[in-house]
Amino acid sequence: MNSLKRVILFGATSAIAEQTARQLVAQGASLYCVGRNPDKLTALIDDLKVRAGSQQCIDGCVADLVDHSRHEHLINDATHVLGEVDGVLIAHGTLPVQQACEADVAMTRKEIETNALSVISLLTLLANLFEQQQRGVIAVISSVAGDRGRQSNYVYGAAKGMLTLFLQGLRNRLAKANVDVVTIKPGFVDTPMTADFNKAGPLWAKPDQVAKGIIKAMQRGKDEVYILWFWRWIMLFIRHIPESFFKRMTL
Ligand SMILES: NC(=O)c1ccc[n+]([C@@H]2O[C@H](COP(=O)([O-])OP(=O)(O)OC[C@H]3O[C@@H](n4cnc5c(N)ncnc54)[C@H](OP(=O)(O)O)[C@@H]3O)[C@@H](O)[C@H]2O)c1
Repeated sequence: MNSLKRVILFGATSAIAEQTARQLVAQGASLYCVGRNPDKLTALIDDLKVRAGSQQCIDGCVADLVDHSRHEHLINDATHVLGEVDGVLIAHGTLPVQQACEADVAMTRKEIETNALSVISLLTLLANLFEQQQRGVIAVISSVAGDRGRQSNYVYGAAKGMLTLFLQGLRNRLAKANVDVVTIKPGFVDTPMTADFNKAGPLWAKPDQVAKGIIKAMQRGKDEVYILWFWRWIMLFIRHIPESFFKRMTL
């Protein structure tokens, strides 16, 4: 079991990360929270401080994570504040309108930058830190959208698929250093990211359910985790639809 006493959260103000932060604090963790929106980050840190005990440290920093030049400083500051790091969760992301990306190269590149390259930059630095420590757990929120390209969201899906593949290789490398790398693949989650979606039906999860699954997966050092569980079987089916048939479907 991995201890989660000192954890860094990137994209800490996301609905899923916020719930994860609350649950971690309830379990006695100290947290370093990185978020882009200063007001939301201050509100989150204030709330967590109220929930935390006197031994727990709650701190953080505002950062736009597409700015790669800040990553090293953020990690150094977090390590300085927490002392040592048991775990990291990378949660930031954006869900673009697919048709808008199709009409705009710059937007497509920006989405790949936010959802994949900024995360890969953080992971490259974090991997070296954790490899040196010879322990700990790195978790990243990817998506079921990365399991197969679909016409309705293949820009987002391609970015998440890049992450999933990167994490597979990183897991393979860091296993030798006693470090777990966890890929979180949520299905549909009721958060601000999906505010415009119709949320009827049993496929939707709440952020606190996903948070619980993330913490369990990090503690147990899982590899790839689908939340909710049935998405594994849905995506297994979708991945196995023959391409000749799949390209005629509208998914
Ligand atoms: N909701 C779903 O159905 C679903 C499904 C699968 C995977 N996911 C993934 O789950 C993760 C969390 O999303 P969520 O559902 O909790 O949505 P959310 O509440 O909208 O959170 C997204 C977060 O990402 C942050 N962010 C975006 N770009 C950033 C940047 N350049 N630098 C720093 N922070 C940035 C946003 O910050 P601001 O507040 O400043 O905008 C926001 O806090 C994302 O990686 C998402 O792709 C979500």
